[in-house]
Amino acid sequence: MNTATMQPLNNQADITEQFYADVIKGLQSTPKHLSSKYFYDAVGDKLFQDLMNCDEYYPTNCELEIFTEQTAEICRAIMGNGDAFDLIELGAGDAMKSTFLLKYLLEQKADFSYLPIDISENVISYLNMTLPVSLPGLKVTGLNGDYFNMLEKAASLSKRRKVVLFLGSNVGNMPVSDAEDFCKQLRNHLSFGDMLLVGIDLKKNPKTILAAYNDKEGITKRFNLNLLDRINRELGADFDVTKFEHYPTYDPETGSCKSYLISLDDQQVKIRGKETICFAKDEYIYMEISQKYNVIQTNQMAAGAGFKPLNIFFDSKKWFIDAIWLAE
Ligand code: AVI
Repeated sequence: MNTATMQPLNNQADITEQFYADVIKGLQSTPKHLSSKYFYDAVGDKLFQDLMNCDEYYPTNCELEIFTEQTAEICRAIMGNGDAFDLIELGAGDAMKSTFLLKYLLEQKADFSYLPIDISENVISYLNMTLPVSLPGLKVTGLNGDYFNMLEKAASLSKRRKVVLFLGSNVGNMPVSDAEDFCKQLRNHLSFGDMLLVGIDLKKNPKTILAAYNDKEGITKRFNLNLLDRINRELGADFDVTKFEHYPTYDPETGSCKSYLISLDDQQVKIRGKETICFAKDEYIYMEISQKYNVIQTNQMAAGAGFKPLNIFFDSKKWFIDAIWLAE
């Protein structure tokens, strides 16, 4: 989830009001759009889990292969000259991939602490509770909040070298210029010699990419439509989700994979009984971008943000990379 630009919100009522404001703004714009950061309620989380297990959605398996097959090499790179460090994970979730690194680092007796950052309080309390049990000896300090506030908190907790993990090709859920700004902002929150390990999905056969966002079982379709259901549930709207169709696209020239929901009819939707949104037949709502890069572009993004690309780990199909960038 892209939590980078979220402001700290104090309670559920604030969060719902922000959701409402974003939805109204997006649906009153031309063209209409919704933010994919809102895909991830409990139903969306479950659908995303299903998606990661479906045949066509390759990025998770590619990155998992990198983490399981090249654990020692990745750990050697992030351990640098062996000085103590803080391993910080942005959007840690269940920390499944990073657990391979944590286990190996503990076996190597590396001097490090793990600081998972997540916008979900549940995720953080779960990790704080379970990781020290499953990985005895691991020092865990979970940080609940948005990325940049929590990076500042991490910097105030220790002066040790930072290694930041940003996995799962989450950087792809931003348009290229936002991703560049995000990397610059990230660099500004780090010090000389800190590192970023970033997972990035690569350009490849367009059919492979499109299939990943148009799976036969229709999980991606339900994942997108769930946001309309969520707006119904949480904001008292009356979307008829059967009147919207999932439409994914991939443009091999730009590397942009985008998904839209297309209105199948002229229709009106009411939100909280007061806002009326009119849809023309065939009008679209822009839902999400999943940007794909080539390796040269990732190196350029690193350099543009003030990082030096140090290592690139590929999966065996060369579909995905985990790159290590050094803050200079
Ligand atoms: C979370 N993110 C990297 C996923 C992606 O591939 O863009 C979200 C997703 N959307 C549809 N399928 C998966």
